[in-house]
Amino acid sequence: MGVLLEIKDLNVGFSVGDDRVHILNNVSMDINENEVLGVIGETGCGKSVTGSAILHLLPDNAIVTGNILFKGQDITKMDDDTFRQLRGKEIAAIPQSPSTSLNPLMWVGKQVAECVFEKGSDEREKKKIVSKVHDIFSRLGLPRGEDFYQNYPCELSGGMCQRVLIAMGVITHPELLIVDEPTKAVDWSLRKDVVDVFCELKKEMKCAMLFITHDIAAAKYVADRIAVMYCGEVVEIGPTDTVINHPHHPYTKGLIASMPSKGFNVMNGFMPSFNEIPKGCRFSDRCECTSETCLIDEPETIEISEGHLTKCSIYKNLNVSESFYHAIRS
Ligand SMILES: Nc1ncnc2c1ncn2[C@@H]1O[C@H](COP(=O)(O)OP(=O)(O)O)[C@@H](O)[C@H]1O
Ligand SMILES: [Mg+2]
Repeated sequence: MGVLLEIKDLNVGFSVGDDRVHILNNVSMDINENEVLGVIGETGCGKSVTGSAILHLLPDNAIVTGNILFKGQDITKMDDDTFRQLRGKEIAAIPQSPSTSLNPLMWVGKQVAECVFEKGSDEREKKKIVSKVHDIFSRLGLPRGEDFYQNYPCELSGGMCQRVLIAMGVITHPELLIVDEPTKAVDWSLRKDVVDVFCELKKEMKCAMLFITHDIAAAKYVADRIAVMYCGEVVEIGPTDTVINHPHHPYTKGLIASMPSKGFNVMNGFMPSFNEIPKGCRFSDRCECTSETCLIDEPETIEISEGHLTKCSIYKNLNVSESFYHAIRS
């Protein structure tokens, strides 16, 4: 499996009036072909800013440094016209909410077809596209045929509308799909359904995904690897099983402990505002393991085992087995 997307030391800030607020701090992560990378963390930690940076959708007041390599090409250096050749085709995004992203007055099938209609397509090409829409609907567990194609969004259940949105994202067979909070706008009872669709999608469509969510349980089921973000930084990254069952960073441990299945122990404190980031480690004011070093020095990112990294100074001078025992003891 080759690397499809490589984010290297990405920094994003925004100029607001005369001020500048620095949001992403040296974010690095990569996604292999056909792999799902889950990005988790509390609201406001920088997950969507990361997704928008990949999609060239940051507002004009954004200041971006670092590199985002897609198949080796740096997309941060591409102008918007060049990037538009990739967006929607090789890199696509799934819109977040059916209620705001679907047109209530247009057949759902037509809305999916419109994503690939080119101006000037002749009747034969249009027919081909319509049959492609039927095909994608049935691959996503929706009914095949004209009857379904000609439904309006209000005639479908919330789960079906969500699948129509997914069809809009995948109709072009992208190599990379950016999915931002797919379970946020859906009813609690439909959450499992949405998670199942993404698991099926992974098998069926064979495309890589950046799966952004504050819902750790959803990431656990869908993602092959997980990146944990806190206050604009990646604090831990590794295989899903390792991050969920053997978290090393104190923040990841807190997040996991707050999952209903792990006891619902809500973490103390709040993420600092980006204007008042503590010196040293950004998590130091909430961490139970804070030492003097943490209040002074920014922690280094340390490789705990192959492909499992954490940005915490506890592990700086420990060898692998000591790190593991420290992680499960604390
Ligand atoms: N255009 C902008 N101008 C200033 N700040 C922004 C802008 N967009 C996002 N931010 C700030 O960046 C931080 C991270 O936001 P976001 O990536 O949306 O968080 P989340 O992890 O919830 O997706 C937030 O504090 C947000 O207010
Ligand atoms: Mg977000």
